[in-house]
Amino acid sequence: MRKKFLPVVISVASALAMTGCGKKSEEAASAAPRILVMVPKGVHPYYEPCYEGFKDAAGKYGVKVEYRAAKAFEVPQQVEIIENIIARRVDGIAISALDDQGLVPVIEEAVRAGIKVITFDAPAPSSKALTYIGTMNEAAGYAGAEELIKILNGEGEVAVIQGGLGAPNLNDRFKGFVRCLKEKAPNIKIVAREDEQGKMDLTVNKTEALLQAHPNLTAIFGVSAEVCPGASAALKQQGRGGKIILAGFDDLPDTLAGIRSGVVNFCIAQRTYKMGWLSVEKLRDALEGKPLPKEIDTGVVIINKDNVDTYMQDMKKEFGK
Ligand code: BGC
Repeated sequence: MRKKFLPVVISVASALAMTGCGKKSEEAASAAPRILVMVPKGVHPYYEPCYEGFKDAAGKYGVKVEYRAAKAFEVPQQVEIIENIIARRVDGIAISALDDQGLVPVIEEAVRAGIKVITFDAPAPSSKALTYIGTMNEAAGYAGAEELIKILNGEGEVAVIQGGLGAPNLNDRFKGFVRCLKEKAPNIKIVAREDEQGKMDLTVNKTEALLQAHPNLTAIFGVSAEVCPGASAALKQQGRGGKIILAGFDDLPDTLAGIRSGVVNFCIAQRTYKMGWLSVEKLRDALEGKPLPKEIDTGVVIINKDNVDTYMQDMKKEFGK
């Protein structure tokens, strides 16, 4: 008897199990963690703390995060990366834009696919990105020039080095830098503006060429993260470390080492960790249907010998780290 009934029991049980299973997977799908993806301009150590903040916030809110970086700072590569992410139907993307117009169509495509898109670090103002989280770049470029003027006593020849000429964040910094010199120190001349495409080795080469071409150069100002490390390597190699004023954006470890040793005069540290952290929070807000402000200023800190060993602790306090 028992044996006879067994198959029936089993089939009823498995039918029950199957229904249960179906329900469970539906529930699991709706409760599945959101997937948010960070897309930097390309592979670069500058973005490491951005992704740290992104990951830490994801841990707090229970979302899944990924990082997708193109090899080089090239618009078609960044577009391709975003297209691949769209095809996977993720929930949100945070982009550091390499270009404004060049990203308009792909961001539009993401929005049409129902994906929330924001920019961090570098905005794409013409695009449909919901917000920009990062430095107010024109003002930061202006502040950098003010600091440089103090060191140069209002006179000298400056070369600007920039990592790519397409991104609005860098062009805005340059604009602010130029405006400040015009307004406050017309005797400081910008004698060159070089593009090194976000590459450290190219920065070294460009610095060497600048030293050759401009024998009276007094200062180098970098609007991108690789400039201080690259230029300080070139200056040291030529025995000119500390003799040419060097300053610029970001606090990569070699820049901080340069400040400690006197090859770099100051840097403008952006709040990269905060950019990543807020990217998760704002994408979550967008997914919950909350409106986002047009931009969110994360602020900058000027770092020199006085605060080089303490500023990081101060920045991290905000996040209880
Ligand atoms: C900029 C980033 C850029 C990085 C490396 C930073 O100053 O904010 O947009 O990717 O430098 O060039």
